[in-house]
Amino acid sequence: MRNLEIGKSGIVVPALGLGTWAIGGGAWWGNNDDAVSVRTIHDALDYGVKWVDTAPVYGVGHSEEVVGEAIHDRRDKVILSTKCALEWREVTPMYHLTNEGKDVYRNLSKASIMQDVEDSLKRLRTDYIDILYTHWQTKDYSIYPIEETMDALMTLKKQGKIRAIGASNVTAEDIAEYSKYGQLDVIQEKYSIAHRRVETELAPTCEKYGVSIQAYSPLEQGLLTGKVTMETTLAEGDTRHRNPNWKPERRAAILATIAKWKDLCEKYECSIGNLCIAFTGEQMGGIHVLCGARKPEQIKDNAAAMALTLEPADIARMREDIKNL
Ligand SMILES: NC(=O)c1ccc[n+]([C@@H]2O[C@H](COP(=O)([O-])OP(=O)(O)OC[C@H]3O[C@@H](n4cnc5c(N)ncnc54)[C@H](OP(=O)(O)O)[C@@H]3O)[C@@H](O)[C@H]2O)c1
Repeated sequence: MRNLEIGKSGIVVPALGLGTWAIGGGAWWGNNDDAVSVRTIHDALDYGVKWVDTAPVYGVGHSEEVVGEAIHDRRDKVILSTKCALEWREVTPMYHLTNEGKDVYRNLSKASIMQDVEDSLKRLRTDYIDILYTHWQTKDYSIYPIEETMDALMTLKKQGKIRAIGASNVTAEDIAEYSKYGQLDVIQEKYSIAHRRVETELAPTCEKYGVSIQAYSPLEQGLLTGKVTMETTLAEGDTRHRNPNWKPERRAAILATIAKWKDLCEKYECSIGNLCIAFTGEQMGGIHVLCGARKPEQIKDNAAAMALTLEPADIARMREDIKNL
């Protein structure tokens, strides 16, 4: 995997990043030993995985706090992204979800975003964020016009509190709208061998406006790592109950597809997860791939994918195999 620039920001990073949603723990992922999470982040940096992604809502502040603990003494070694516009301070017309007993709302107003960033900077123990994403988008432009949202983001950039602007869970229309008011550098979207909406719906618009793509859940939350079978069960409240690819019929089709690639794992001497990460990074002319990990052995395995270069014929074969997924 190569080094890639993030949009037009001038920030160049290795294509593989570390996501810290699971490190937030709570009902969605089950609780963690934070010392192990910190070690995982340190190991990632040692392996050359520089981009660390978090969000206020992951463990309602907890993921950001653990990331802050891990990076405060090595801030210059990290490209750090977090998110804004999901908050639990006040009620807005856009309820999003309830997490850890907190009602979380979308709020893309300028005032709220400015406050989100102050709160994140404290939890992250830093005075700047490299990339700030709006986490989920307005459902109604008349309530939160993107012009106002972008005004907040551009102001934060001028203040030196953020270096690049991102948006997550967008439509092509959102990308075009953001791009009217400044440079949108990157979108963060779900993308894996089993979820490829981005290719047709968003990639052409990103190319038009010079926006990078960062793929989230590229391992389908563990399903593509080889450790999940049809017998694997999930705890009550686990976020993977909401992932359609974990439902029995889809799960069976996906597991059958990756089982066909045993010979490729032998050829490249890699894990099935590595094969999926490397393949994902080769799509659409090269994209950033954001894998979650919360244990040192997971990041050790995932980081090995950075050294993998798949041959064009193998990529073509894999694309053929996933056509009907
Ligand atoms: N913008 C958004 O709305 C959004 C949404 C989702 C995710 N994200 C971001 O994208 C990141 C990645 O997505 P994700 O965490 O949902 O899914 P993912 O990267 O597809 O999967 C991560 C999970 O897979 C398991 N895993 C990872 N590497 C493994 C390995 N080598 N061997 C065995 N198991 C392994 C771990 O789960 P266990 O420890 O439970 O086994 C890990 O937490 C998130 O952390 C977050 O930063 C953003």
